[in-house]
Amino acid sequence: MTVRQLQDEISKLKTQSGACILAHSYMSQAICEVADFVGDSYALSVKAKSASADKVIMCGVRFMAEVVKMLSPQKRVYLANPTAGCPMAEQMDRELIEQVKARYPGYAVVAYINTTAELKTVADVCVTSSSAVKICRAIPQKDVLFIPDINLGTFVKNQVPEKNFKLLSGGCPTHARVGEKEVLAAKKAHPDALFLVHPECVPDVVKHADYVGSTSGITEYAKTSPAAEFIIGTENSITERLQFECADKKFYPLSKDLVCHNMKAVTLTDVYNCLKGEGGEEITMSEELRLAAVKPIEKMIEYGG
Ligand code: 13P
Ligand code: SF4
Repeated sequence: MTVRQLQDEISKLKTQSGACILAHSYMSQAICEVADFVGDSYALSVKAKSASADKVIMCGVRFMAEVVKMLSPQKRVYLANPTAGCPMAEQMDRELIEQVKARYPGYAVVAYINTTAELKTVADVCVTSSSAVKICRAIPQKDVLFIPDINLGTFVKNQVPEKNFKLLSGGCPTHARVGEKEVLAAKKAHPDALFLVHPECVPDVVKHADYVGSTSGITEYAKTSPAAEFIIGTENSITERLQFECADKKFYPLSKDLVCHNMKAVTLTDVYNCLKGEGGEEITMSEELRLAAVKPIEKMIEYGG
């Protein structure tokens, strides 16, 4: 089948089954075109709560499908490709965070949503890249233990100087691949381009940015900006899709290495097979785990709006 034939088959199966396809912004153009909703991890969480379909197919990584299941336990939630996990989500376990918590009593544990369901059970509130600053300002505690991403944590700490942050040293292996050297080279090659960056990048990269934001924030900024050229400091799918959506502007990847192999593992064929009932993985979790893990997610939506 061609890509277009496969997309047509997916649309037919979707209508027949009443399933809803949610896609993270890092999905390929072919997947985004068949999705009912494309967004950043915050928007996907909020959408999951309001989607009316009984069957949801998540095109993204495992923690995203888990969040959908936590918020909508009555829905059948599938991860389109069971091998797609976020390495950052697995970097720290509950025991480690409990030990750190004991050293910092009274601190609010603020967990990036890129964490396992188990780790969320020890968090007071979750955040995403687009909501972290707002939520850290809004919570009543002055002391914050931010886990696991040290780069996002550093960005938030600089934006919220009135609070006291303790950071741990986790992070995204994809965004960690680029440093200041790549920024200087890209700026030299494209001196008129604005530089848009995801806060998962290291501070030496973020300090050069004209705009720092989530995947949706970067997309929105580039679409509405009067500028004509942009260097994109996040996963290269965003660069590719922006070029599709804004044909009159120019988009350059900060580096060819900005590829998340887990996100890229999800293919259009996976979506097709999942809809046919011949692929994907249905997400299940005990009610005890769900009830404990959903609390910081609900707090995130309460503070995030
Ligand atoms: P967003 O919150 O921007 O969607 O980012 C999620 C992610 O995994 C980025 O690497
Ligand atoms: Fe995880 Fe980084 Fe991939 Fe996002 S880009 S899913 S944080 S490994």
